[in-house]
Amino acid sequence: MIAFKRLLAFTKGYWLRITIAALASMAVGGMDGAFAYFISPLLKKIFQTQDLTIFKFLPLGIVAIFTLRGLSRYLNDYFMRTATQLVVQDIRNLLYARNMAMGLRFFGSQSTGTLMSRVLNDVIVMQEGMISLILGVFRDGISAAALLGVIFYRNWQLALISFLVIPLTVYPAQKIGKRLKSISRQSQEKMGDIASILQETFSGIKVIKAFSLEQRSIEKFRETNLGYYVFMRKSIKYGNLSTPIMEFITSLGIAAVVWFGGIKVMSGQMSAADFFSFITAMALVYSPIKKLNSSFNDFQRCLGAAERVFEVIDKKPEIVDAPDALPLDLVQGDVDFRNVSFRFGDAWVLRNITLSARRGEIVALVGPSGGGKTTLVSLIPRFYDVTEGVVQVDGHDVRSVKLETLMSQIALVDQETTLFNDTLANNIRYGKPGASDVEVQAAAQAAFAHDFISEMPDGYATNIGDRGVRLSGGQRQRICIARALLKDTPILILDEATSALDTESEQMVQNALNNLMQNRTTFVIAHRLSTILNADRILVLDKGEIVEQGSHEELVSRDGLYKKLYSMQFKNTETETGAD
Ligand SMILES: Nc1ncnc2c1ncn2[C@@H]1O[C@H](COP(=O)(O)OP(=O)(O)OP(=O)(O)O)[C@@H](O)[C@H]1O
Ligand SMILES: [Mg+2]
Repeated sequence: MIAFKRLLAFTKGYWLRITIAALASMAVGGMDGAFAYFISPLLKKIFQTQDLTIFKFLPLGIVAIFTLRGLSRYLNDYFMRTATQLVVQDIRNLLYARNMAMGLRFFGSQSTGTLMSRVLNDVIVMQEGMISLILGVFRDGISAAALLGVIFYRNWQLALISFLVIPLTVYPAQKIGKRLKSISRQSQEKMGDIASILQETFSGIKVIKAFSLEQRSIEKFRETNLGYYVFMRKSIKYGNLSTPIMEFITSLGIAAVVWFGGIKVMSGQMSAADFFSFITAMALVYSPIKKLNSSFNDFQRCLGAAERVFEVIDKKPEIVDAPDALPLDLVQGDVDFRNVSFRFGDAWVLRNITLSARRGEIVALVGPSGGGKTTLVSLIPRFYDVTEGVVQVDGHDVRSVKLETLMSQIALVDQETTLFNDTLANNIRYGKPGASDVEVQAAAQAAFAHDFISEMPDGYATNIGDRGVRLSGGQRQRICIARALLKDTPILILDEATSALDTESEQMVQNALNNLMQNRTTFVIAHRLSTILNADRILVLDKGEIVEQGSHEELVSRDGLYKKLYSMQFKNTETETGAD
């Protein structure tokens, strides 16, 4: 019921369309009733008085009624489908916006496929349910009501007899509806699994091919698809179970009518024509009632999907502005961590981190994988909030300033070198929406990306696939660097890609980075020796704690973790760069 009320609230802006649709439905239903009502007196008149003038118009009248009915039906369909489509569009937009508002914990806790499936599939199930409901109430409901009117008008005693059975249908209908609602939820979950597999395999197709996992993926997909079928079968089973049950119960009603009606006609209490009209209406009323029942079932499925959708819409974003948050402007770019500890669930990932970085400084983070480097830098733009301690920007707790203004002071170049399905120019422009072509080019030049972009068939207007498949690793990195350069913020976070580049590419990316890091507070998770040598300070992070810090020379002279990592990781690279 709550889900229904909320769904209703979404239809608010579209009542004009829904009203037109409803009126057109009423016309359809009314014409069905009129047909059943007038057919008897007309026939009576024609055959009793042999009046041929009416008879001549009868075929015309029939065609006219059905034409009008067809027109009304069309109007009804058009306005109802567009109205529900608009509602669904609103829900989709809201879902998308809500997803955007969620923090990274939310995205870490569920698969991309599940999230996609809610926006794509659950919403479609909702639309189907809404269409069924509107059709049910206005078309079939009114058509049934009109026909019922005729039935009662013709002979109320007979009508009562035929509807004595109606209460019998309520219980099975309710039972089945409840069942369908929960099945709908579960089948939508399965649909989410299917979407997850699609998303994973299409984006990881290279790995699948390289490891010859095609067959395994196909098997897995089949299995998941079968899982979906299992729920669909249940849905079909229960959805259609209602038909034979209803048919059986109504057959009892019809049997009673034929029995008692027949007796009345034979005893002369009722005319044969009235009985005929009664039976016509009875026969006609059966179809809308059956449709009403299946509308009810569709609507239960809709509520199942709606619950899932509303769950996401209701989710409170974990990272929001404090009520008294102040805008952060003209940032100097100082970053301080004071006794910061952080955990995911029960597992502590960072312990008691204290550090300060001033503008112009490059702070490099190194350490074993899983040591907490990415997590540490994620606390600055509030991807996560600290569990204990405080992170400050220019002396302000990051939780006390407006998120948007905080973000506008930070540029991020991620390990994943994310590019969007757009032109190269626009991919750079994500750093500063509205930037001019000249600015974009300047950023690309500083990022050493201008030359290879110019060589592309359409230059800056070249569209890259959503995953940027046409670019090399080093080129992708440089586009991301250009994006960060264009954003031009006092604070820079660099999570270097671990993928090894060839020496020339490496040099180019390093040059681009050197340009990027100038005159900012830079946190860099360094995998390149050249970056580390450039750093003012190196923090060695192990199991969430800073175990060593200092310059490269200082750290190498100590016999600690850094020395060990350094000799393992960079010895070869150093000779290579040395030869350069
Ligand atoms: N979303 C998450 N939920 C739960 N645990 C997480 C999450 N993200 C990271 N972790 C855990 O936090 C720890 C630190 O991860 P983090 O990504 O910060 O390491 P890292 O130092 O960046 O490693 P790498 O050098 O491999 O990138 C790891 O043990 C990881 O399993
Ligand atoms: Mg990392």
